[in-house]
Amino acid sequence: MKPRILVIDDEAAIRDSLKMILEYEDYDFVGAASGPEGVASVKRDSPDLVVLDIKMPGMNGLETLAEIRKVDEAIPVAMISGHGTITDAMQATRLGAFDFIEKPFTSERVLVTVAKGLEVRELRQENRELKLAMESRYEIVGNSPSLRRVMESIKKAAPTNATVLLLGESGVGKELIARTVHRNSPRAGQRFVQVNCAAIPEELIESELFGHEKGSFTGATEKQIGKFEQADRGTILLDEIGDMSPKTQAKVLRVLQEQEVERLGSARTIKVDVRVIAATNKNLEEAIERGEFREDLFFRLNVIPIVVPPLRDRREDIPRLVQHFAKRTTEEHNLKPKRFEPSAMDALSRYRWRGNIRELRNTVERLMIMTPADAVRAYQTRRRRSRLHLNQTDALSELNSCALRQQLRPDEAGQSTEKQHKCDVQRLHAVIPRSRFRSLPGMPRPVRNTPAATENAAGCRSIRNHPEGCRQDSGRDIAR
Ligand SMILES: Nc1ncnc2c1ncn2[C@@H]1O[C@H](COP(=O)(O)OP(=O)(O)OP(=O)(O)O)[C@@H](O)[C@H]1O
Ligand SMILES: [Mg+2]
Repeated sequence: MKPRILVIDDEAAIRDSLKMILEYEDYDFVGAASGPEGVASVKRDSPDLVVLDIKMPGMNGLETLAEIRKVDEAIPVAMISGHGTITDAMQATRLGAFDFIEKPFTSERVLVTVAKGLEVRELRQENRELKLAMESRYEIVGNSPSLRRVMESIKKAAPTNATVLLLGESGVGKELIARTVHRNSPRAGQRFVQVNCAAIPEELIESELFGHEKGSFTGATEKQIGKFEQADRGTILLDEIGDMSPKTQAKVLRVLQEQEVERLGSARTIKVDVRVIAATNKNLEEAIERGEFREDLFFRLNVIPIVVPPLRDRREDIPRLVQHFAKRTTEEHNLKPKRFEPSAMDALSRYRWRGNIRELRNTVERLMIMTPADAVRAYQTRRRRSRLHLNQTDALSELNSCALRQQLRPDEAGQSTEKQHKCDVQRLHAVIPRSRFRSLPGMPRPVRNTPAATENAAGCRSIRNHPEGCRQDSGRDIAR
């Protein structure tokens, strides 16, 4: 579509000459002879850019610009000034005009301004979309009583400088909550620095947290600013704090007490003003009892504890989360929107979600991308798992769970559980070499000469021959 340029000028000769210049360059021209006419055209024609004369009878250019801003605050506006003063120009800039075209003008000057304005518009639009995407990325979705309690704690903790300790299983949203605390705190304009204490090797963690001077140890070829210094006046998230070594715990405790750091290889202390948020999926009280975590550090961190409940304890949040992640995936991957049928939503709501919201997010993303139809149905929520990669221990536990299933659960697909068990045994036999399989204690012998066994053996041959090593029907329902 051609970019549409609205020219608001009371002089017909100016409008005509701009019409000629712009149409020659394949822009779509719209003209207006007065301020009110121009404002009406902004509402009606949604132009991409406005060229506006400052001096007009009745509503002048500045008043028109103010009215246009009420309709569309992002539209780029270039002013035409011939008789304009510096004061007019300054006021127009304050109202968001991005450029001036002096009368008399050349076509080159007009075209350069128009191209610049359209670029501004594109950047503003991109910016707005990015902001929206960021907002949705940081949105905490859910309305269950337990999540509402978490939200209450965030609301109370955020405006203060108090240390927050986030406790909860992997994937429940601890990092998201830490970011929300920071974004709603007076430090929101400063940095949010995250350190994953479990991911950094023991010998590097101190230099990562506190920094080092050049030459302070072998390999320290440059000076490095530590994370605490980087987070000065902002917030630091000490993630997986339960995995920190006792030596580092002692140093972190000192920083919390003194609010100062020392770079490795330097005796100089540096004052830092950092708000600390710590997170872990470990039970710190048990770690203290085992002597793995310092009690004094725990008390320092545990000023505002927030326990984030696992997803299985707030299942009522699942439908909203599914819709949220489905919408996000649609936008991020340019996909067609998809419905989740009630049976699919029900299956997702009943699943255990050991990986919590992260696992749910990944599952929804997979369903949105891989499901061909415009609705996701219950059977599509079944996760496929290749058994080709089972090792012997996995095989045993797999078999145990098959046996357990046989004893405990009726089979959802309507197949008898005994038959299902035989199918599972057959598949394991097909996947694991017979000699190794037999050597495992407690392994049943393969079922022979039954129709199910023959059918399965054929299926298993094709598992082995499948290029991706995995057949569509070799998995089990995740929604159990
Ligand atoms: N209530 C929620 N609403 C929307 N998205 C959420 C919610 N909780 C978590 N998420 C999303 O789930 C994913 C996992 O969350 P996050 O990384 O914060 O978990 P975590 O508790 O820090 O996990 P880990 O212990 O493994 O580090 C992220 O993509 C996050 O945005
Ligand atoms: Mg995390």
